[in-house]
Amino acid sequence: MKLQVRQTGKINGEISVPGDKSISHRAVMLGALAQGTTTVTNFLMGADCLSSIDCFKKMGAAFSRPDNNTIIVKGNGLYGLREPEDILDVGNSGTTIRLMLGILAGQPFFSTVTGDASIRKRPMGRVTEPLLEMGANIDGRQNGSLAPLAIRGGALKPIQFNSPVASAQVKSAVILAGLYAGGQTEIREPHKSRDHTERMLAYFGAEIAVNHCAVKIKGGPNLEGKPVEIPGDISSAAFFMVAAAAMPGSRLMVNRVGINPTRTGIIDVLRNMGAEITIHNVDEVNGEPVGDICIRGSELKGTVIEGSLIPRLIDEIPVITVAAAAAAGETIIRDAAELKVKESNRISAMALELRKLGVNVNELKDGMIVHGGSRMKGAVCESHDDHRVAMSMAVAGLLATGETLIKNTECIGISFPGFAETLAGFTHCANI
Ligand code: S3P
Repeated sequence: MKLQVRQTGKINGEISVPGDKSISHRAVMLGALAQGTTTVTNFLMGADCLSSIDCFKKMGAAFSRPDNNTIIVKGNGLYGLREPEDILDVGNSGTTIRLMLGILAGQPFFSTVTGDASIRKRPMGRVTEPLLEMGANIDGRQNGSLAPLAIRGGALKPIQFNSPVASAQVKSAVILAGLYAGGQTEIREPHKSRDHTERMLAYFGAEIAVNHCAVKIKGGPNLEGKPVEIPGDISSAAFFMVAAAAMPGSRLMVNRVGINPTRTGIIDVLRNMGAEITIHNVDEVNGEPVGDICIRGSELKGTVIEGSLIPRLIDEIPVITVAAAAAAGETIIRDAAELKVKESNRISAMALELRKLGVNVNELKDGMIVHGGSRMKGAVCESHDDHRVAMSMAVAGLLATGETLIKNTECIGISFPGFAETLAGFTHCANI
């Protein structure tokens, strides 16, 4: 599939975006480990979250789908999973494989996990190493650091784990394994990453204590199924936030989006670049803050993005490079080497694609410098089979003269089914 996008002058209106991907995954997994029923509304029916459902179905959790945005999970408690008869296939989903590894480490059975070509290249040692230390048996390609992986789990011992990376997937894997450890597991990370696992576990009744970059979790809790409302995904909203921010005269309202402070780096950055952003109707659902985000566009200017800000906007960096291309002056992104091990190498992918539109970009070992301000020209681009690269280039297409064509855009369904339809509310945009 190809996505064709034409330039537009400004965007005005109100949209909603699909449910948060990270929180949807956690609702599936914790629902499967809880006793009783977890009804999840505004669930993201994207390919990644469907992979999580598929894996937990294979381990005996029951799922039903009363409507297109709702799932009902019936779990059998922390020790209620059973040995899967076949390989657990996570497709393209890093969150599924890494979080599930933490759970599998604590199961008294054998399992094997794999995923697509991108997943089979992504580093798993960062998760399997602490799980081995807790006592799980895990092996796989390259000394257990690449999928496919084989796991024989069981009772675990608690550890004190200092994560070398600020990664919510790594942190969550160890927290989830900690549910199966006798005693208290402690995790510390260099900068605070998204904390949805911690919030949902507390909501489901686990004993968990969080002190900025440190988490303590007690093993053996009784998790209780609860209703979960998934907030709109700020990582999906980000594409339209950048589009509105970069076009003076635009005014866009995005309704009921998750505004957990570990995810709102995009708001801070767009404000730094000169956009006006206000938040309305703030509310809280299952321990997660939500609100309506209003963005007014202006002439943007370059900025510096680094340090503890990086984990707060890691998935938004591809689209931030598009804002940077539209902004006057230079935008410097550093401390973001993690981008190289996402669904694609997002540093080289975005640099390559932006150059096709005439943008001057320097790649750094841990980021990039975007020299903004020159007019972008429509071109033929590649998605690199990465949903966020595909959608970022669609936003670039809104800002570039003429027409932009993005190839291989099926991947958009990973996180944002309906993206093209939402975009078509603002400009000519067609799947061809
Ligand atoms: C996620 C954590 C982040 C993020 C990914 C989703 C999660 O990955 O990039 O899209 O749901 O925990 P890392 O933990 O590898 O930084």
